[in-house]
Amino acid sequence: MPFFSMLNLKFSHNAHIQFRPIRPSDLEVLEKLHGDMFPIRYESEFFQNVVNGRDIISWGAVDCNQPNGQDDELIGFVTARIVLAKDSEIEDFLRNDSARSNHTLVYILTLGVAEGYRNLGIASSLIHEVIKYASTIPTCRAVYLHVISYNNPAIYLYKKMSFQCIRRLPAFYFINSQHYDAYLFIYYMSGGRSPCSPIELIALLVTYAKSGFKKAAAKLWRNESRKPLKLPKCKESGCLLPAKQNKRMLPEGSRSQFV
Ligand SMILES: CC(C)(COP(=O)(O)OP(=O)(O)OC[C@H]1O[C@@H](n2cnc3c(N)ncnc32)[C@H](O)[C@@H]1OP(=O)(O)O)[C@@H](O)C(=O)NCCC(=O)NCCS
Repeated sequence: MPFFSMLNLKFSHNAHIQFRPIRPSDLEVLEKLHGDMFPIRYESEFFQNVVNGRDIISWGAVDCNQPNGQDDELIGFVTARIVLAKDSEIEDFLRNDSARSNHTLVYILTLGVAEGYRNLGIASSLIHEVIKYASTIPTCRAVYLHVISYNNPAIYLYKKMSFQCIRRLPAFYFINSQHYDAYLFIYYMSGGRSPCSPIELIALLVTYAKSGFKKAAAKLWRNESRKPLKLPKCKESGCLLPAKQNKRMLPEGSRSQFV
């Protein structure tokens, strides 16, 4: 696979972590890890696509010094997909030219590290691999993901990795008959960031001021003339709201908490 990369990191005297693409022999463990960590039951097609690299890119972490001798067993994973910026829900958070053209984004689908291996920097390394990969794609403008609003370890991690939390999405997830908010996190690649330089901010404010002035003038004129006036609906221009939200429906009776 073109994105193959391998890192060797020693975290403790007995854990020797390596990173590699996920492969067909990982299928069973990958399914078990997802089942243990997430409240959603993924279709077997999803796992088949991951292990066979169909439309999904992935990295796995393995401990080469496992006490049980299973030195190639997955203990961590990240899966992601390339999407077209203009088809994504975050097009409004990108520079205009990014959203209009054939620019792409990398969307992180799932990320997890087995419990005994947490807080060793493994997820950070996996995300680093995704960012490194995304930076090799000339059209890629950002890496992004959703996280459930109470997943503090993950939220802390994304902030640490310089992802920006750009929006809270109310009731984005539906798990066991309950709604949960999500945060939308973005890591901007060069040229992908939303308009927030001082000059762009001033331009944005001027746009707001102009539309505010127009509305005020229209209201004044309407009051004076006392005639009912139909104004075109005011678009929330410059307001960084996504055009659409992909709500996540998670099945009843699912087990763990993190998404
Ligand atoms: C989120 C997760 C992937 C992090 O994996 P990890 O390998 O432990 O992550 P890292 O070791 O790279 O970094 C974890 C950081 O979070 C911090 N952290 C751990 N628990 C925390 C908590 N409850 N609140 C805040 N920060 C916390 C750690 O101190 C560490 O920061 P540091 O490097 O500054 O010390 C892991 O907890 C996990 O698999 N959770 C279940 C699945 C999941 O929630 N996936 C994310 C879905 S969006």
